[in-house]
Amino acid sequence: MLKRIVVGVCGVSLVGLGLFSLYAWNPSIDPVNPSLTKDYSPEVIAQGKMLASAGYCSTCHTPPGGEEYAGNYEMHTEFGTIYSSNITPDAKTGIGSWSEEAFMRAMRTGVSRDGHHLLPAFPYEHFNKMSDQDINAIYAYIMTSIPGVEQVKKENGIPFPLNIRALQAGWKLLFADTEPFVEDSAQSEQWNRGAYLAEGVAHCGACHTPRNALGGEKYDEMYQGAAIDGWIAPSLTDTSTSPIPWRAQDFYEYLTTGNSRYHGSAAGPMAPVMHKGLSALPESDIEAISVYFAAKNGTDQNIDPSTSEALKSAIAAQHEQADLRINEGARLYATTCQACHYSSETVVKGRPLITLGSSTHLDEPNNLVNIMLDGVRSDQGIHGVVMPGFREALSDQDIASIAAYLRQAAGEESWPKLLEQVGDIRNQPRFEH
Ligand code: HEC
Ligand code: HEC
Ligand code: HEC
Repeated sequence: MLKRIVVGVCGVSLVGLGLFSLYAWNPSIDPVNPSLTKDYSPEVIAQGKMLASAGYCSTCHTPPGGEEYAGNYEMHTEFGTIYSSNITPDAKTGIGSWSEEAFMRAMRTGVSRDGHHLLPAFPYEHFNKMSDQDINAIYAYIMTSIPGVEQVKKENGIPFPLNIRALQAGWKLLFADTEPFVEDSAQSEQWNRGAYLAEGVAHCGACHTPRNALGGEKYDEMYQGAAIDGWIAPSLTDTSTSPIPWRAQDFYEYLTTGNSRYHGSAAGPMAPVMHKGLSALPESDIEAISVYFAAKNGTDQNIDPSTSEALKSAIAAQHEQADLRINEGARLYATTCQACHYSSETVVKGRPLITLGSSTHLDEPNNLVNIMLDGVRSDQGIHGVVMPGFREALSDQDIASIAAYLRQAAGEESWPKLLEQVGDIRNQPRFEH
């Protein structure tokens, strides 16, 4: 009896496996001769260039100091190290022999030209939301304007059995949102444009939406904040912990200048998103994205942050310093930070009032600690404005004391494992870009 059940189960799973393999299988799409690709108009190529920028193709496909689009940018994930592909038009090691059709299939379904499944570290489930016209424009740009570079993709460092690519078919079935973008007729044209860009090419949710244990985005918690590359991408919805609500104009200021006066700076992984990515889009597109997220926040657009209680109490908190001789964090803050971070009545752009920023209000101290360790480079945050890093100058204990002091000044409960976390954050691979 037992034997029959075992055989039965095996039989069923063999049939299942067979069906699954059939399902997981994708045909190879024939290689084409790149010199035969059709002529594209300069307008289409320019559109493709802009979209490639807004999709941060270069951030993930160009390692620091490496050749543009030639791949092998290292991504550290909880499943192992993943290397991006060579997407230059080199026929041997890049996508030079890919037809428009093969490129379209990869961007929509995460399947490579030869039929193998791609990992969702490549955000195809967002690129899938783009129109055919936009995807083809990116293809035209890459094929005509990027120099081909011969460079073989490194093997991903993902352990068995997760490295079996066919399993991705199951992952896609369970977690990937394969629906095309649908306009919401109840919303304005501007909102819809913002949604199209945010959900598609600019894939804000790839970092800002929390993921389940198998790395699938939790669509019912869209944009509610998530950990990424040792940083926290804060919530962009009404669950935001910012003391001052985000209006459309605050999003716009943040996304165009790298800093919102009432919220803070775009450092870490957010810096290339805005400086190297969104900066290529026309103003009207950034406005549309801002309107979309302001709606997600449900913010009253008519509030005046400059006269808000949150601002007044943040300014007042600077003066209510604990006895500097006994509070080490307050003393270190006054001597190390306050010369640059002080506001008298209003917040001066470029002198952030730290207790208004999300870094002191998030459940995890990562962003505050990362910024203390490595500062804000001139190509991050506000362009041309820097904050020094204190990696060598401050000990873990010093950083934990300052962070604890700021957390208290921000009116939040203390982070329970702060000192330990500072050590971990110091030792994690640094986000480079
Ligand atoms: C968040 C990082 C990330 C971004 C952004 C990104 N890619 Fe990728 N891409 C990857 C990774 C990683 C792979 C390889 C995945 C694997 O090994 O399965 C990849 C693979 C690809 C492939 C498949 C190549 C092949 O040989 O199979 C194509 C095509 C591609 N990307 C195009 C693009 C384009 C075009 C953009 C911008 C619109 C872009 N990618 C943006 C990470 C990214
Ligand atoms: C590669 C990952 C990544 C992508 C993609 C990304 N973000 Fe971010 N974002 C972050 C991280 C990390 C932070 C925190 C940065 C900091 O505090 O310096 C952040 C911060 C922000 C903030 C500030 C929030 C706050 O409360 O402080 C806003 C606003 C924002 N992102 C909007 C967007 C929008 C809009 C998009 C899409 C157009 C986007 N992000 C795409 C990673 C990302
Ligand atoms: C020499 C001036 C200077 C010093 C000293 C300094 N900062 Fe900064 N800090 C800045 C500037 C300028 C920015 C904005 C950078 C940008 O956006 O480009 C900034 C940004 C920040 C941010 C991001 C803004 C936000 O709220 O999200 C945090 C957090 C921060 N600083 C914390 C600190 C802490 C803590 C110290 C002390 C350990 C410190 N800073 C010392 C100049 C300084």
